[in-house]
Amino acid sequence: MNSKVLFNEGKNYIPGGVSSPVRAFKPYPFFVKCGHGSKIEDVDGNKYIDYCLAYGPLILGHSNEELVKSIYEDLKLGTAYGAPTEAEITLAKKVVDRVPYVDMIRFVNSGTEATMSAIRLARGFTGRNKILKFDGGYHGAHDYVLVKPGSGGATSPDSLGIPKDTTKNTLSVPFNDENILEKVVLENKDDLAAIIVEPVMANIGCVEPKVGFLKLLRALCDEYGIILIFDEVITGFRVSRGCAGEYFGVYPDLATFGKIIGGGFPMGAFGGKKELMENIAPAGKVYQAGTFNGNPISVKAGIFTLDKLDHIFYKSLKDKGDFIRNSLEEFKDENLLNIQVVGLASMFQIYFNDKPVLNYELAKKSGTDNFSYYFNHLLKNGIFIPPSQFECCFISNTHSQEDLEKTVNIMGDALNLIK
Ligand SMILES: Cc1ncc(COP(=O)(O)O)c(C=O)c1O
Repeated sequence: MNSKVLFNEGKNYIPGGVSSPVRAFKPYPFFVKCGHGSKIEDVDGNKYIDYCLAYGPLILGHSNEELVKSIYEDLKLGTAYGAPTEAEITLAKKVVDRVPYVDMIRFVNSGTEATMSAIRLARGFTGRNKILKFDGGYHGAHDYVLVKPGSGGATSPDSLGIPKDTTKNTLSVPFNDENILEKVVLENKDDLAAIIVEPVMANIGCVEPKVGFLKLLRALCDEYGIILIFDEVITGFRVSRGCAGEYFGVYPDLATFGKIIGGGFPMGAFGGKKELMENIAPAGKVYQAGTFNGNPISVKAGIFTLDKLDHIFYKSLKDKGDFIRNSLEEFKDENLLNIQVVGLASMFQIYFNDKPVLNYELAKKSGTDNFSYYFNHLLKNGIFIPPSQFECCFISNTHSQEDLEKTVNIMGDALNLIK
């Protein structure tokens, strides 16, 4: 069956024909047959250079041969035990060794669970109720954080079904705006348990913090006894060996992880200072549990993946990112285009916007029709990027120079046509 037929059939059984909203795009998404290295192949016989990479986890590309072989052996030993394994300690030690602000870690099943649990821990530790997030920050699909969330553009999750009582303690302020931040923190400091932030806002495209912004967060949290949570579900093990806190030189009290930490298998985690983490059950009184927590297959894939990610790996990925960003910048200057080229390390995006994008409000002013045209032109020519202006593109170590050159040429064609 082809993608069109599958989509029409799928809609009868699966809401909207997809298992997560951002996967739906018009007229219908392609259905995947397989992925290898930098390429993903659909059931219609098309092959794409993939910059979606499952929305971030596949930093080693699709179906890394060595990883698949070793996981195949692991599978023969069982897929879940409901009892601890040595591999969990191995992975925990690897994270602690890399990430300067993580002393202890709890493995969960998704980024959503990670942020939900980290928020509970912050509330349990401080005895306070409120949390502060940033407009357009996406921290998963649980009730407390679906307040002005990013991710998904047209499918942005301003969801029904969330009681006002549940979100009355969730404050949201613009990213990169020191004045509003300081005002809201001061007004709420006595009941503010946590500030949760994506150190790079990667669910409104790709927006970096202004110089000093994360430092200001750290200072406010220190001054008022607020727990600073970096949501590193995207930036964790993506921007540098020691994650975004190391990259920007600002350490949070807690960090949440997902995507790369499971090496392409479902997993999330949260970790941080020992004095905080020791409050997690059964060591402490903040409850957190899960049948599949620390799943042996995800943990093994995580270990395999982290073992590949050394400084040389990150340098090479950054070079690939620089190649794409610089090529697009040159193209922009030569053709006087009204676009913004953004990103860092192996993350990139363009905004169809004539002004720099510093926050969600400004991101929303970008030309989504132009983005749609750009996305479709790329897709027709064998390049797959996330279908929304408000997502970020990712690069893996399997993207070759030939892939990158082909990509920037086709991006250039698309931008010329739009102009
Ligand atoms: C920054 C951030 N936090 C949390 C999540 C939720 O992670 P998951 O989809 O694994 O539940 C995402 C998902 O994209 C994310 O980008």
